[in-house]
Amino acid sequence: MRINDNALIARLKELGVELRPGVSLAAKTSLGIGGTTDQLLLRRYESIPEVMRLLADNQTPHRFLGGGTNVLIDDGELAWVVLHLPPAHPGVRLEGNFAFVDASADLGGTVTFCAKHDLGGMEGLIGVPGSVGGALRMNAGAYGMQIGSYVREIELYRAAKGDLETMRGDQIRFDYRHTSFAPDDVMLRVKLELPSKPYKEILAGIRICNEKRRSSQPLNQKSAGCIFKNPPGGSAGRMIDALGLKGHRVGDAMVSDRHANFFINAANSSCADMLKLIDYVRDRVRASYAVELENEVIVWRN
Ligand code: EPU
Repeated sequence: MRINDNALIARLKELGVELRPGVSLAAKTSLGIGGTTDQLLLRRYESIPEVMRLLADNQTPHRFLGGGTNVLIDDGELAWVVLHLPPAHPGVRLEGNFAFVDASADLGGTVTFCAKHDLGGMEGLIGVPGSVGGALRMNAGAYGMQIGSYVREIELYRAAKGDLETMRGDQIRFDYRHTSFAPDDVMLRVKLELPSKPYKEILAGIRICNEKRRSSQPLNQKSAGCIFKNPPGGSAGRMIDALGLKGHRVGDAMVSDRHANFFINAANSSCADMLKLIDYVRDRVRASYAVELENEVIVWRN
C-alpha cells in the first residue's frame, strides 16, 4: 500500500511521522518473510491519536509492527501500511524497584539492563527475541515465568476510544500467551515492578536459561519461535516430533530438526508455503491425537 496524497504526507510530517516508502517486511521479521508496503515511524507518542484519525479519514488501512519476531506476513504488495515505534536505547528508566520501559525497547536488552541494576525476575525471558511491547501483548513467558506478573501500569493507545490511556496491571488479564488487550490496542510504555536480586545471582539464572535454550531451540535460523501454543497439559513440539515431522518441508518452509514446534525459513520461503506447512502439521496432529493446535504465531493475511 502506498501513500501518495501530498497533503497527507505533509500533515504526517508535521506530526513527527517519518514515511519510508516501499519497505520490504521480510527484512523486518525474524522469519524473513513478508511483502512490501510503506512504513510510518511514529516519533511522538502524543501525536498517535491524531495520526490514527488522519489515516482513518484517508481510508488508509494500517497495522502496528513491533519487533517482528512472532508474526508471519503475507507475500507481495500488502494492503495496509505498517506503523512502527522507533527503537529506544536502552528505553529503560529505573526508580527503586520500578522499571519504566518503552514498548519499542528490546526485551533482552531490558532484562540485561535491569539485571545490571540488581533487578531480577525476568531471567527466563533473556533469549526471547523481540520488543517489550510484543512481549506484553502476547504475555511472553519461558521457564516458569511470564512478563505479565511484573506489570503495574501500561500506557497504550486504545483504538476503540481513539485516545491514549493508562491502565493498571490488575485491569489486564495475562493468560498463557494471551492478554485481554484488544487486537488494535498499541502498547507504548510500561511500568514493571521487579524484585531486588544481586547481579551475580541474576546472571547465573540467565546463563542457565540461555544454555537450556541453546540446547533445544534453533537459535541461529530464521523462525518465529514456537508456531503453535501448547495444548492444555500437552506439548505441541513433542507431538509433532513423535509424528516424525522434523525436517518436513513445503518449499523452503521446514519443521526444524532441532525443535519440532519451530518452523524455519530455510532459504527463501514464501508466506504461502509456510501457511501450507502449518496447515499440514495441524491436520496431522488432529488426525493422530484429536487435538486442534492453535497458532501462537500471528498471521497477517492481505
Ligand atoms: N520435545 C520433543 N521434541 C521436540 C521439542 C520438544 O520431544 O522437538 C519435548 C521436550 O523434550 C520436552 C517437551 O517436549 O519434554 C517440552 O519441550 P520444551 O521444554 O522445549 O518446551 P516447549 O513446551 O516446547 C515452551 C514454550 C517456549 C519456551 C519453552 C521454555 C510454548 C508454545 N513454547 O516450549 O516458548 O521457550 O517452553 O520455557 O509455550 C515461544 O513462545 O515461541 C517459545 C519458543
